[in-house]
Amino acid sequence: MVATVAKKIWGGVFSEATDRRVEQFTESISFDWRLYEQDIAASIAHAQMLAAVKLITAEECRQLCQTLEQIRAEIEQGKFPFCTELEDIHSHVERALVERLGPLGGKIHTARSRNDQVATDLRLWVRAGIDTIDAALAELQRAFVARCDADAEVILPAYTHLRRAQPVLAAHYWLAYCEKFQRDRQRLQDCRKRTNVLPLGSAALAGTSLPMDRQMVAQSLGFAEVSANSLDATSDRDFAIEFVFCLAMIALHLSNWAEEWIIWSSTEFDFLQLPEAFCTGSSIMPQKINPDVLELIRGKTARVAGDLQTLLMLIKGLPLAYNRDLQEDKPALLDAFDTVSACLQVAAPLVEKTRLKRQAIEEKLERGYLDATNLMEHLIGRGIPQRTAHEMVGRLVREAMQRGVALRELALEAFRAQEPSLGEEVYDVLGAERAVASARSYGSTNPALVKQQIALWKQRLGIVSPESTP
Ligand code: ARG
Repeated sequence: MVATVAKKIWGGVFSEATDRRVEQFTESISFDWRLYEQDIAASIAHAQMLAAVKLITAEECRQLCQTLEQIRAEIEQGKFPFCTELEDIHSHVERALVERLGPLGGKIHTARSRNDQVATDLRLWVRAGIDTIDAALAELQRAFVARCDADAEVILPAYTHLRRAQPVLAAHYWLAYCEKFQRDRQRLQDCRKRTNVLPLGSAALAGTSLPMDRQMVAQSLGFAEVSANSLDATSDRDFAIEFVFCLAMIALHLSNWAEEWIIWSSTEFDFLQLPEAFCTGSSIMPQKINPDVLELIRGKTARVAGDLQTLLMLIKGLPLAYNRDLQEDKPALLDAFDTVSACLQVAAPLVEKTRLKRQAIEEKLERGYLDATNLMEHLIGRGIPQRTAHEMVGRLVREAMQRGVALRELALEAFRAQEPSLGEEVYDVLGAERAVASARSYGSTNPALVKQQIALWKQRLGIVSPESTP
């Protein structure tokens, strides 16, 4: 019994062994083992600093670092034994050092607490997570930009209220998603700034009386600054919550896109041919080819939003400084990261491999009076007040509907009946292609402007277009 207590890194004051149920209840090693790389990197930086300030010798530092690297290799190879008695990743690594180096292993925790240690590990982990997600988002943006070239001439009906509204270039649609994911990337970069601050040296909550060179540790771990308040640095997880908010926003954007493509690939819409390798079938209806990947991306958004909610509630009402509640941050954080990574990994190839069904799209473009707004703007351009023009075009649409024709199929007399000054030039804005070409405002679907945007995105994403290579 006492042996179990002695094994613990905090066993000294205890005379009674920990209840098994408590060990099971309080452990975090089952999930925080995933911080091993960060924990070991931070311990190595800490040991080097301890040597620099002469709290340990250079030789002791060498042995500690070498053993830490051994431990890392063993964890990577799946050879390192984990057990619930040792609670978390921090005590596992420290215990392994003591087992291998004897009393020297006991020096690693000099001027350090698990409170500043876990805050440091988590900041390192979130920082790496930000970079991983950012790279995956860039990959997805590249897939959308590649579609712009593939669908260069395609015009799509764009929707409001899920009813056909106005024609736009397919590329304009794809770039809309690039913009959304770009803001997600900017949010991540912003979050990275607040994450990239070193807590180590804050010790349990008050700092330490031992000589520390925190700048040195920050530099070797790539932190931009050191935390200025030990109570704050050990107690807050706002950076992790911010990251999970970024992930939730990405998941929401993915769910918008997934929903759109589920609708577009339905038999009713028939705009998209999803790659079969990214669809699944039905166990009873032999004819079904279902968009399950897209549905799961939409569905998994709920999990990420739930993870965010978990973290928000987790820190609600916590007094300063460290509280064990904070251990619960990891399952939600890890789940949000894993979920969004997994979604991004299938989203990019799905965007790349999906094809637009041009003929079905063209047929839909023909019907629905998508050029009505352009006709109205043409009338406004001739000095007719917007309200009057709106009504005139409304009447023209009604007439075309009654005749079962498109606006451009109405005779000139019909237009002149509304506005006698109109001539043949009225047909210049009718039909999807002309309607798209007539757009002018910056940010519109105007083909020349969209072309500029495509070039800009290629530049941003480091895509070399075939024409620019010699
Ligand atoms: N596993 C703990 C966590 O994730 C590490 C910190 C424990 N600190 C403590 N004073 N019990 O929060």
